[in-house]
Amino acid sequence: MFIARTLPDLRDACARLRRSSDALALVPTMGALHEGHRTLVRTGVVSGAAVVASIFVNPLQFAANEDLSRYPRDEEGDLAALEAEGCALAWLPDVATMYPAGEATTVVVGGPSERWEGEARPGHFRGVATVCAKLFGQVRPDRAYFGEKDWQQLQVVKRMVADLLLPLEIVGVETVREPDGLAMSSRNRFLSPEERAVAPTLYATLTEVAGALAAGGPAADVISAARDSLERSGFEVDYLALVEGAGLVPIDTLRPDARLIAAARLGSVRLLDNVGI
Ligand code: PAF
Repeated sequence: MFIARTLPDLRDACARLRRSSDALALVPTMGALHEGHRTLVRTGVVSGAAVVASIFVNPLQFAANEDLSRYPRDEEGDLAALEAEGCALAWLPDVATMYPAGEATTVVVGGPSERWEGEARPGHFRGVATVCAKLFGQVRPDRAYFGEKDWQQLQVVKRMVADLLLPLEIVGVETVREPDGLAMSSRNRFLSPEERAVAPTLYATLTEVAGALAAGGPAADVISAARDSLERSGFEVDYLALVEGAGLVPIDTLRPDARLIAAARLGSVRLLDNVGI
């Protein structure tokens, strides 16, 4: 696996990979890689593409009250994991490369970024869209892989790519879960043993709600009961909502693209999850 830390090195390595592979795939990450990220890389490799994985803790997507320095970092472990999964190139830019002095452009996506995480974390999706646009411009991949765990992020990136006519495909990959159902996330390491024991209840509740809605239960009642039950288990629920999948607009009746999304806090850890119905 080649490691690029500067734009000239990245360009050379991408040009070489393009000559020897049918397709180039990008897996954007902020490091602290877990099985979810490894699955994204593996999915790209299995598709026959040469996979480029970026590791960049993006300051622009942290809201003012969020602690960038607390974000877990493990470059050595991350590079070993990428190599083991068959990643062809790791791209590790620094902040000055991604955000050079004097730049004056950011990407603001409307529609799917307006509610939920967009409200809870002002500026977050501007940071995500901007860094993804830059990574797409640097690597020029044929496709890029994102986990469905961050459902709203996936929709925001898809919207941006469609609206700006960017020449790549965005591929969503199913959420990877612990055996007890907890969605894999770099935040899970901050759960205390007691919180970790309760955390799978979020997915279990989403699954129950999805079943009740599919069976014809009234959405408002089912969701409000599930919210109360999560609060009784110790969660502080930010939102639990039935939305249409691409635009994340709330809906009150089922439709083929309906998605159930949730964000809930256990202590200081904010967990996100979602299921299709
Ligand atoms: O999901 C993440 O890890 C980040 O939001 C991403 C897509 C790598 C952009 O920084």
